[in-house]
Amino acid sequence: MNHPAMQGLDLQVPAHVRHARLIAWVADMAALCKPERIHWCDGSQEEYERLCQQLVDAGTFRKLNAAKRPGSYLAWSDPSDVARVEDRTFICSQQKDDAGPTNNWMAPAEMRATLAPLFDGCMKGRTMYVVPFSMGPLGSPIAHIGVELSDSPYVAVNMKIMTRMGKAVYDVLGSEGSFVPCVHTVGAPLQAGQKDVSWPCNKTKYIVHYPETREIWSYGSGYGGNALLGKKCFALRIASIMGHDQGWLAEHMLILGVTSPEGKKYHVAGAFPSACGKTNFSMLVPPAGFEGWKVTTIGDDIAWIKPTADGRLRAINPEAGYFGVAPGTNYHTNPNCMASLDKNVIFTNVALTDDGDVWWEGMEKDSGKFPDHLIDWQGKDWTPQIAKETGAKAAHPNARFTVAAINNPALDEAWDDPAGVPIDAFIFGGRRSTTVPLVSEARNWVEGIYMAATMGSETTAAAAGQQGVVRRDPFAMLPFAGYNMSDYFQHWLDLGQKLAASGAKLPKIYTTNWFRKGEDGKFVWPGYGENMRVLKWMIDRVEGKGQGKDGVMGITPSYEDLNWSGLDFSAQQFGQVTHIDHAAWRKELELHAELFQQLRHHLPKELEETKGAIERRLAA
Ligand code: OXD
Ligand code: MN
Repeated sequence: MNHPAMQGLDLQVPAHVRHARLIAWVADMAALCKPERIHWCDGSQEEYERLCQQLVDAGTFRKLNAAKRPGSYLAWSDPSDVARVEDRTFICSQQKDDAGPTNNWMAPAEMRATLAPLFDGCMKGRTMYVVPFSMGPLGSPIAHIGVELSDSPYVAVNMKIMTRMGKAVYDVLGSEGSFVPCVHTVGAPLQAGQKDVSWPCNKTKYIVHYPETREIWSYGSGYGGNALLGKKCFALRIASIMGHDQGWLAEHMLILGVTSPEGKKYHVAGAFPSACGKTNFSMLVPPAGFEGWKVTTIGDDIAWIKPTADGRLRAINPEAGYFGVAPGTNYHTNPNCMASLDKNVIFTNVALTDDGDVWWEGMEKDSGKFPDHLIDWQGKDWTPQIAKETGAKAAHPNARFTVAAINNPALDEAWDDPAGVPIDAFIFGGRRSTTVPLVSEARNWVEGIYMAATMGSETTAAAAGQQGVVRRDPFAMLPFAGYNMSDYFQHWLDLGQKLAASGAKLPKIYTTNWFRKGEDGKFVWPGYGENMRVLKWMIDRVEGKGQGKDGVMGITPSYEDLNWSGLDFSAQQFGQVTHIDHAAWRKELELHAELFQQLRHHLPKELEETKGAIERRLAA
């Protein structure tokens, strides 16, 4: 079947694709983007290896030393294309209010008119890859399907790792199943005879979502969440809208399992802003003093959570791999992650060692020294001396690894279970050097939603822009909620109310802050594996046996309520990370008021009421 505007390009639809609407859409997009050829990805290992070799031949990939890092590749992006571009990300709902004040908005018709000339012929000289993928275990009642059309083979191979990608998706889709159409181009058409560059992209970037029609259009970037459209664009922005309309949750959350020495298992979902240690926490190794405890990973970034008939909230990880931040990862911060990265990894924007392996800042803590020489992520010579003189980083601070979940030695046995896992507790954790205590438990669902809604965090390199400034990041969803943030709060409130009305026991809600600093500017809390001490307190509370005291911001543990065996951490240090500074909190509440002012349209009254109650407790 060919489209009249395709000028002889053969669609070459494989026999296993029997979905007329999908085929017609591919034909339409091919007619618009005008690729030189179309490749329908089957998701096989053979295809993956062929595309990786093609990327090596094109200079995008470098094959790493097979003795050190078997099956692994290194890509260096264009220096202008290194992170998500939040200021170029749009929610194009019919009504501006439906996108809300935290999203960039443009009317759909205006955006379509803006994009049409950009997409016209955008894939000239390139291959259009048709990438079918399932977010979540194939056929799971919690999973959904997408198809990405991309002119980037880098995207195709990353999608093979990050999603359940390939032929089997068409079996689930059948001839009429629904899917989210995702169109991606690097925006760099090739004229006849024009030589390609190793990382094609365009200065102009648009990451566009049409919530009503559930479409994603991405132009100009080849990097991460801008280009791997199953992740932030589908699994968070579009899925959050689907969840709102259908009564479920799509969240920026890790999911982990904790098993006690007695063999009892709990599941916790945790929302933390980008690059605040979600991957580390999801792969946590219990420290000395926690013999017999086990933590296992279900997901490290995104959770899809649906209520089931038994009144529980059950969660799946819609992804099949990890696209994690490399710098800072080492055998101390995340040994399970380091073990996951032994083989079959795609690295992006880390440094290259002289023996064909990879390196990033933080690895010196494992080896006890810096390498004498590297090629940095921009292809330049790097030595400790150069770094000292110029401050040059060997790896970009947002350098990433793409690796399959099955590489993770701490992978939970239920990670691929179509039924998902039942959630016992939610954690919301920002990055704050002051003010917010190590941990507190919400007294009820509404207070928990208040805590999550008002979460603030210091910004990181995961998104382009200034780093280290505190911004409100409600539910760690500021860049990812696909609709009005106040409606999103209301959706959480409604879900809780509905579950409670059915007699269900709601998950407990906690806030954490691992990042408080002392006067010397250093982190006081040791973090990483030691976070198990806080996790254990939460589990005790879920069991109804942990102690805590009622405070200004929920229930907090005293020093004696945590297990300190195996760690030298004094009551005075504990005071430093838990102390509530009333003056700082009064200022903090002014910032909550500012947020509520920004979100006043549809802001649930329960949040204002909770704020009032906190103010009264602070004044008492
Ligand atoms: C991510 C992010 O890549 O949150 O997970 O930016
Ligand atoms: Mn994330």
